[in-house]
Amino acid sequence: MQLLKEKILNEGEALSETILKVDSFLNHQMDPVLMKKMGEEFAKRFEGKEITKVLTIESSGIGPGLMTALTLDVPLIFARKRKSLTLTEDLITSSVHSFTKQETNTITVSNKYIVPGDKVLIIDDFLAVGQAARGLVDICNQVDAEVVGIGIVIEKAFQDGGKELRDQGFQVESLARIQALKKGEITFAEEMEG
Ligand code: G4P
Ligand code: NA
Ligand code: NA
Repeated sequence: MQLLKEKILNEGEALSETILKVDSFLNHQMDPVLMKKMGEEFAKRFEGKEITKVLTIESSGIGPGLMTALTLDVPLIFARKRKSLTLTEDLITSSVHSFTKQETNTITVSNKYIVPGDKVLIIDDFLAVGQAARGLVDICNQVDAEVVGIGIVIEKAFQDGGKELRDQGFQVESLARIQALKKGEITFAEEMEG
């Protein structure tokens, strides 16, 4: 997605060979106009999939997830990483290990909101090794909901998550794919169709 690539080039910052900082429009401040266009792009790429729910994980997946759900006219559910005061029963959980942060989180969704037969589109801001996406897939599997696709804002194509998920048969659509990062330098990979 050209607009997103331009935004990444203009405002993104490669902090190292593995980490891209995009705090000005995705991970801290959010650009709602860009978010809306990304939501429309995801909806287009997964057209005809009869999606009933969009599923993401707090916090940075909520922006793009909500705009996608708005375009598709379906609910957005975000998995929680911390214990909720009010989310107390009938929980579906999965364990997600973050290599970037070296910590393991139990992610949680109520089985009121992801139910058998749902056709779920998973949305997230970054795809690195794919642990977060795998945790969300696991939650859907536990309730016999079908994952019809995975939409990612920024895929780090030099890490294995995207390849592994595609090898497993998932349609993974990334709006920008990064081939390489170097301090002060961002190189994109070619776009690919799921
Ligand atoms: P994975 O989901 O592919 O396994 O990735 P990983 O465990 O490495 O990611 C852990 C957290 O770090 C996630 O956010 C993910 O979005 C974020 N992340 C991974 N690589 C990058 C990067 O290059 N740049 C930025 N800005 N973030 C990255 P999170 O902990 O869930 O936080 P948030 O959603 O509350 O922001
Ligand atoms: Na993030
Ligand atoms: Na995330």
